[in-house]
Parts: sequence; structure tokens; C-alpha cells
Amino acid sequence: MNSLLLWITLSAISCTIGVQAQPNTQGFISIDCGISEGRSYDDEITEIPYICDTPFTDSGANYNISANYLSNSLPTQLSSLRSFPDGSRNCYTLRPVLKGLKYSIRAMFMYGNYDGLNKPIVFDLHLGVNLWKTINISDASRVYMAEVLTVAEAHFISVCLVGTNSGTPFISSLELRPLKMYMYPAVNATSSLVLFRRLNMGSATDQPLRYPEDPYDRLWEPYTYSPYWTSISTTFNVENPPKDVFEVPSSVLQTAVMPTNATSLKFYWDAIRERDGTFSQYHLFMHFAEIQSNASNRTSIFNVHLNGDLWDGPFAPNYLSSGHIYTTTPGSLYQYNISINQANTSVLPPILNAVEIYSLIKLKELATDFRDIVAIMAIKAHFQIKRNWMGDPCAPRNFVWEGLICSYSIYAPPRITTLNLSSSGLTGEIPATLANLSEIKYLDLSYNNLTGEIPDFLAKLTSLQLLILTGNQLNGSIPPALLGRSTDGPLILSIEDNSPPCDVENSCNNKKNIAPLREIFLATALLLSLLIVFYLLRMRKKEKELVSDTIVKLQKEGSQKAPIQSESRQFTYGELENITNNFELQIGKGGFGTVFHGYLDGGTQVAVKMRSQTSSQGSKEFMCEAQLLTRVHHRNLVPLIGYCNDDHYLALVYEYMSEGSLEDHMRGKTDSTRVIGWEERLRIAIEAAQGLEYLHKGCKPPVIHRDVKTSNILLSEKLEAKLADFGLSKSFHESLTHVSTAVVGTVGYLDPEYYSTFKLSEKSDVYSFGVVLLELITGQRAVLPRPEKCHISHWMRQRLANGNISDFVDTRMQEVYDVNSIWKVADLAMKCTAATSSRRPNMAYVVARLKEALAMEASSQDRSYEMSVQASESSESETSDVARGGRINRVGGPAGR
Ligand SMILES: *[C@@H]1O[C@H](CO)[C@@H](O)[C@H](O)[C@H]1NC(C)=O
Ligand SMILES: *[C@@H]1O[C@H](CO)[C@@H](O)[C@H](O)[C@H]1NC(C)=O
Ligand SMILES: *[C@@H]1O[C@H](CO)[C@@H](O)[C@H](O)[C@H]1NC(C)=O
Ligand SMILES: *[C@@H]1O[C@H](CO)[C@@H](O)[C@H](O)[C@H]1NC(C)=O
Ligand SMILES: *[C@@H]1O[C@H](CO)[C@@H](O)[C@H](O)[C@H]1NC(C)=O
Ligand SMILES: *[C@@H]1O[C@H](CO)[C@@H](O)[C@H](O)[C@H]1NC(C)=O
Ligand SMILES: *[C@@H]1O[C@H](CO)[C@@H](O)[C@H](O)[C@H]1NC(C)=O
Ligand SMILES: *[C@@H]1O[C@H](CO)[C@@H](O)[C@H](O)[C@H]1NC(C)=O
Ligand SMILES: *[C@@H]1O[C@H](CO)[C@@H](O)[C@H](O)[C@H]1NC(C)=O
Repeated sequence: MNSLLLWITLSAISCTIGVQAQPNTQGFISIDCGISEGRSYDDEITEIPYICDTPFTDSGANYNISANYLSNSLPTQLSSLRSFPDGSRNCYTLRPVLKGLKYSIRAMFMYGNYDGLNKPIVFDLHLGVNLWKTINISDASRVYMAEVLTVAEAHFISVCLVGTNSGTPFISSLELRPLKMYMYPAVNATSSLVLFRRLNMGSATDQPLRYPEDPYDRLWEPYTYSPYWTSISTTFNVENPPKDVFEVPSSVLQTAVMPTNATSLKFYWDAIRERDGTFSQYHLFMHFAEIQSNASNRTSIFNVHLNGDLWDGPFAPNYLSSGHIYTTTPGSLYQYNISINQANTSVLPPILNAVEIYSLIKLKELATDFRDIVAIMAIKAHFQIKRNWMGDPCAPRNFVWEGLICSYSIYAPPRITTLNLSSSGLTGEIPATLANLSEIKYLDLSYNNLTGEIPDFLAKLTSLQLLILTGNQLNGSIPPALLGRSTDGPLILSIEDNSPPCDVENSCNNKKNIAPLREIFLATALLLSLLIVFYLLRMRKKEKELVSDTIVKLQKEGSQKAPIQSESRQFTYGELENITNNFELQIGKGGFGTVFHGYLDGGTQVAVKMRSQTSSQGSKEFMCEAQLLTRVHHRNLVPLIGYCNDDHYLALVYEYMSEGSLEDHMRGKTDSTRVIGWEERLRIAIEAAQGLEYLHKGCKPPVIHRDVKTSNILLSEKLEAKLADFGLSKSFHESLTHVSTAVVGTVGYLDPEYYSTFKLSEKSDVYSFGVVLLELITGQRAVLPRPEKCHISHWMRQRLANGNISDFVDTRMQEVYDVNSIWKVADLAMKCTAATSSRRPNMAYVVARLKEALAMEASSQDRSYEMSVQASESSESETSDVARGGRINRVGGPAGR
């Protein structure tokens, strides 16, 4: 028993010792790019474990370098690589890392003529959203390296390869090493340093020194400049004082150089000119330790000069203890002449043990808002989306993820405002992480195979203006909060392909009205009624558990607009007198008659359209149709509350639209002199188009509006557009108009085909709607009075031919619009007003194009804040080279004065 215990204790001790002997590789990510999936191994020399790259990237293909370039001395990592022939940006996502911690990341590239092309290759390496380094490969046998010190901005770091049309980007290995927070104080959240040189002076070997001698696995390049420099060394250990900010390994500091015959050590480098023409800014870190003698009078004392001026000194390194002279702000010179000069009080010449030179990454771009990144990465993982979804979602702007539109500002990180995943083959439920895209305005998940319920959390997206869920297999009811945002708020909700019951076909005997389309709809109606029966049966068993898309819309329509009775209501003439307070307030006069304002018992405001002194002929048909129309409910249709068919009076009672008609707004007839802008015009157009689409597609048989025009598009209190006077059918007009065989509809809006066929179809409404669109774009009337009477579509056609947008756009919009959005709608309007009805699109097409135009307009507004973010130049006004060489600091040897 005792001996067993002893054995366990002993082995535990030896284990601990074993771990201490080699610094641990905890937090290291060591990727050998291009090895077979699942492979991993420990490096022969460093014993660092390397793994394959498949968990870190979605794209690219594996290759081995050509056999000619293989050798025993070649590190294993360099014999394979991953190459990225497709896509302009391909990324590795390094994780896990801890947000806010400091890391060094190193990438290596060895071409080795893997593709047999033997051509030079140039591509860019990006750290997150900013250029890290341009990799210029001209020698197939050389190893190219890039290293950066950075602070993790998120729980992952992306490293991207960006093609420059000069060969296929590739990578051989990628290594990430954690650093201590207090190390390299010049590195912080806004400042990442790219390694230029890291030199181990006077090294005895010609191999770079790295892990495990350097626990941070920095590569120290051996450097001696003989015969002018003499190497010196010690076998004593060189200590780092506590909290040393560089922690240079002892074995690096144990060697140094000193001038052979002279009193100064000199070196220089030229600043690299960046693509934007400016010079890179540099940090210089020099590391010293006295290794020759412990006697106080045998110490080297020196001054450091930059381009001939004293930069720092005198400085006397401590015996066997590291000290540093280093910049705290970066230098911004085109050339750096560094001279370490023996002080006249010093017996010994100067020494230099190690040096590091870094350039600063220019921050040209801000990374996307962290919350959006986390959310979109989760959505990517949830749906396993590949596309070009790599690296930062929004930045740089030319690499925005497909299907995203972002807003940019100089002050704040980009935000995702549009997510279009339409027709992306998505399956499963709508993921909850969508709710974290808090700035999203447009969300399109249409035509996928999404299942499950429409989640509540979508209502939390307070910026959401357009939500398209069309063409999925979602079930359940629309969450009330979401529905509320849609009925009472600015949200446009599309859950089409879920026909609600809008059955306006019944005993009216209006056979002539029934289109050949009826057969098609009959089948649909049958299916629909089956579904409803099924639904009712289910309802008995389980309340509220709904079964299909159809029911979705049912709920939606049913729970809308509480104050309006869904039952048609018949009023007597006396009641109308009451409601309108004896026809006190006349608010309009239209083709149908005079319109009066009134209040129902409950206080609901109504508009009463009166037609007096009519023959009762046709009143039966009128009643029947009116009854039907009270059943048509859509948020973009003015609700018909009831009607009156009393003695000689016929009347229709509509909900009152307090903000008047679109015509009023366009003509400035309303009190406000405000001009409605393009985005608002588009919104009104979309809403009106949706109302019309519903009449055409949602109703069985389709209802033809017959009189679409700006004065029939009314605006509610909340400025929601609703179509008025819909479905006043032919019989209605004929029986009520003295000029019965005359034109139905309004001059300027009427389908030109009507004059030859005397038939109206849905496409006639499309024509009229096209005219409305033209009015919205141009601010002109349907028929221009001057110079001679001219239809707006002819007027437009002439101007479109010139291709000059200012020839036709309403000048009152003050050029505040996205030009592409205008062009899109202009094109659409011309399609709608095609002379032949068969060439006009249907309303579903019109709605879809208008929504696209609105998305364009909205995203261009976001873009108007655009400006690129540049790292600001040092604000110091001093112009001396020394000042521009960077502010300098030192630790270790105080001056020997
Ligand atoms: C590269 O070589 C290794 C053997 O050294 C082999 O297993 C691997 O399949 C090769 N990879 C490719 C992409 O040819
Ligand atoms: C790449 O390097 C070669 C020589 O090494 C040089 O001629 C060429 O201009 C460089 N290309 C770029 C884009 O830096
Ligand atoms: C990062 O360091 C630079 C100096 O190197 C400094 O100007 C900047 O303010 C620092 N940024 C933060 C966020 O600390
Ligand atoms: C250094 O000086 C010695 C004699 O003073 C001379 O022999 C030697 O060549 C010099 N070396 C160099 C590199 O100038
Ligand atoms: C250096 O000399 C001082 C006394 O001058 C002594 O205290 C110290 O231990 C010596 N250090 C070494 C490493 O020999
Ligand atoms: C310098 O040190 C030596 C011994 O190494 C000693 O002989 C000499 O006196 C010292 N000189 C001064 C000026 O302290
Ligand atoms: C650096 O030194 C060289 C050679 O001594 C000289 O030609 C050059 O002008 C110096 N550069 C600066 C910026 O002082
Ligand atoms: C040492 O150099 C400084 C200037 O660098 C000078 O002021 C001083 O007189 C010199 N001392 C000796 C002993 O030469
Ligand atoms: C949806 O799923 C069904 C069967 O599960 C399949 O037939 C259909 O193609 C899928 N549709 C899409 C858009 O992926």
C-alpha cells in the first residue's frame, strides 16, 4: 500500500518536472496547411503538435510541393500547401482565441512549383479587414514569411488571402502564439505590428532560434556583419527583470556584436512605400545586456543617434540582465540611419544583443460590429452556408459577404442592414441568433425550406422594415408582436403563397365576370376549403395549433384591425344622416358621387360615398357586389365597412383615411407643403401594389380594380397606403353611370387595349399602376397639358431615350435618391405601360421589383456616410528627424553619468 502511494507521488513529481523542462504550448494554434484531413503530428525539432487546416477554412485545395524542392532540412510544414484558385478572398478563421489578448501570428509560404507553372505570384495577406502584408513570391525554393503582433478583436482572428490577379494565392503554414498582455506595449487594440526583421546578433549558429528556447516561439534570425562587427558571447545565463516587456530569451542575449575597429555600430533600413504612396511607420526595439565584464569601469556606455541626431543616451547595459531602448510611438521617416556610438567616458565599444523592427498596420477599415459578427457567424454555422462567407462580413467593402448589405460610417464599425438568403436551400428553423442582428432593416428568407413556427423574436428587430418569408414551410400563427409591427408600424411583412380566403364568388350570378382563370382557382378553393375543414377539426382537439401557411394568413387577416366588423353591414339612409350629421362635411367628389365625413357609434371615422337619384335598376347587383367587397380585407385596401341601398340612395361606407390621397400629396393639396421623398414614394408604391396583388391573386375569382390612379391611393393616419374604390365592377359602373357604354376608369390611366376590346383584365390594372409609378418618378400628371396634350408614358419614353435622369425625375426630390433605384422603377413603369397587355408583368413581379428598388435606395442612404478610415498621422508638429523617428523609451541600464 505504502509503496504504491510512493510510486504515485514520485511519478507525479517527475511529470511536473517534465512539463517544466519544456515551456508548454497551451494556446498555440499550429496549422500545417494542405495535409490530409484529420492528420496531425508533432514537429521533429520543436515537438510542437501541428494539425491540418480543414477546421479553419471552407475553401481551397491541397497540394504538395514539387519533389525537386523537397529536402531533409526542409521543415515538414513547408512540403504541403493549400491553394485558392477560386474567389477573390479566402480566409482562415483562427480560434479559439481570447478577445482582448495579445497574439503573434505567423504565416509561411513556400511555392516549390507545386502547380508546375513556375511563375512568380503576388497576393495580399489580410489580418481581419486590413492589409497585413503583400506576399511577393519570385523564388520557388525560398521560404517567405509574414508575422504580426496583434490584439484579438473577437473570439477568433481571421487571416485572409486576397488575389491580385498575379497568380493563385496559397499558404504553407499558419501559427498563432499567445503573448502576455504587458508585452510589446506598442501593440494594442488599434495598433498591430508587422515584423520586418528580428535579429539575434552574433549568433553562433546559422539556424533561427525559436521554441522551446523562446517560449513565445518567436523566430530569431541569426545575424553577424563580419568583418566589421565582432561577435562576443557568454555562457552565463542572462536574466530578464520582472515584467520585462520583451522577454528576450537568454540564449539570444548571450550573444552580441561590437564594432571590430571602430567606435560605433551602424545599421539602417529604408521605409517601404505603401500602395497609397505613403511610407510605412516603424517601431524599433533594441535589446542589450552587458556580457563581457562585471567591473564597473569595464562597461560599454553609448549614445544612440538617428539620422545624425542624438536619439537616446548615454546608456549602459547591466551585466547579465536585459535592457531595452525602444520606440513608444512609431517613426515616420523614409530612411532610418541608426548609429550606436561609444560614449567618450566609455572604455569599451558599444554592443548590441538583439534588434526587432516592425511596421505598423494601417487601419483603413473598421471591422464589422462585434455583435453582428457573432450573430452572422452563428447563422452561417446554423445553415452551413459556404458562398464567400469568410473573413469579416462587411469589410473591406469590396468583399462584403454575398447577400449582405452593410451600413458604414467613419465613427462606428459597419453594421449589417440587409440579409438576403432568398433561394439558398436553407432548411430547418429560423435561428434565434437572427435576433442579434439588431440593425437589420431588410430580411429576406424567401423560397427556402424553412420549417417550424415564425418566431416571436423577429419582432425584437426594431429596425426591421421588410421581412420576406414567402415560399417556405413555416407554420403556426404570426406572433402578435410581429403582426403589430406590421399593422401599426413600418414593417412590410410578406408571407405570400398563403392565400387567405378572399372568396368573392357567390350567388351574384355575375357569370360574365368570371374569368377563364376560374377553373384554376376552383381547384385551389377546393384545397383551401379542405384545409379549413382540417383546421377546424384540429382546433377542436388542440386549440391554437395551426397547420399550414394558409392558416398563417387567416390568423393574420383575422386578428387585424379590431374596430372594423368583418360582417358586412347594411345602413339605412336615416342611419347615414346620423353618421354624417346630416351630410355636414363634404370631403370629396368622385366619379361615384359625393363623399361625406362621419362617425360610427364607436367613434370610428368613416367616409360615406353617396350616389343619389339613381334608378333602382341594377341595385340588386350593386348590393350583392357591395356585400362581397366587405369581405375583402387586406392592409393595403381601404376597408369597406358597409353600404346603403335605401329607396333612391346608394351609398358605400368606408373607413376614413385621414391623410388624404396620394394625388393630394403629389399635387401639394394637403396642408403640409412637404414634398414626399423617393423612399416614401417607393414605400407607398409597394403598399398600393401589394393591395392590387392581393385583389388579383388572393381573391377568387380575381378582383379587377378598374380604376387605379393616384387619387384612389389613400393614406392612413400612419401614412400607410391603401387602395380605395376597388372592385367597383363593370355592372356597378354601367348601372350607375349615365354614360354606361362609355369608358370605365379614368382618362390617362385606362388600358389602351380597352378601346379595341372593351375588356378589362388584371393587366389593365397593371397599366394604370404603371402610370402611377411614372407620376411618382416624374411628379407629372398622367396627361401632360403642355406643350400639347401628351400621355405621360410617351413623354417618358422620349426622355428615357436620352438616358439623362434629370430630364424626367421630379425636381422637387432635390436629387435625394439612389439613381439605380430610380432607373429600376422607371424601367418597371415602362414595362407596366406596354401597349400590349401580354407584355406587361403581373403584380407579384411589380411588388418584387419595387422592394428591390427600396432596398437599393435604403442602402445607398447608408452609403452616403461613407469615408475611408485612415490611421491619423502623428499629431506632433515637431519636424526634426529625431522626433519623427518615434518617441523613445528605455529600460535596463540607466546612463553611466
Ligand atoms: C502529399 O504527400 C503525401 C505523402 O507524402 C500524401 O499522403 C498526400 O496525399 C499528398 N497530397 C496531395 C494533395 O497530393
Ligand atoms: C515582386 O518582387 C519582384 C522582385 O523580387 C519585383 O520586381 C516586383 O516588382 C515585385 N512585385 C510587387 C508587386 O511588389
Ligand atoms: C495604441 O497605441 C498607440 C501608440 O502606439 C496609441 O496612440 C493609441 O492610442 C493606443 N490605442 C489604444 C486603444 O490604447
Ligand atoms: C582592424 O585593425 C587592425 C589593426 O589595427 C587591422 O589589422 C585590421 O585589418 C582591421 N580590420 C578591419 C575590418 O578594418
Ligand atoms: C558583479 O559584481 C558585483 C559587485 O561588484 C557582485 O555583487 C555581483 O554578484 C557580480 N555579478 C556577477 C554575475 O558576477
Ligand atoms: C578598473 O578596474 C581594474 C581592475 O579590473 C582596476 O585595476 C582599475 O583600477 C580600475 N580603474 C578605475 C578607474 O576604477
Ligand atoms: C543615411 O546615411 C547615408 C550614408 O551615410 C546617407 O547618404 C543618407 O543621407 C542618410 N539618411 C538620412 C535620412 O539621414
Ligand atoms: C564627451 O563628449 C561630450 C559631448 O558629447 C563633451 O561635452 C565632453 O566634454 C566630452 N568629454 C570628454 C572627456 O572628452
Ligand atoms: C424542400 O424540400 C422538399 C422535400 O423535403 C424538396 O423536394 C424541395 O426541393 C425542397 N425545396 C428547396 C427549395 O430546397
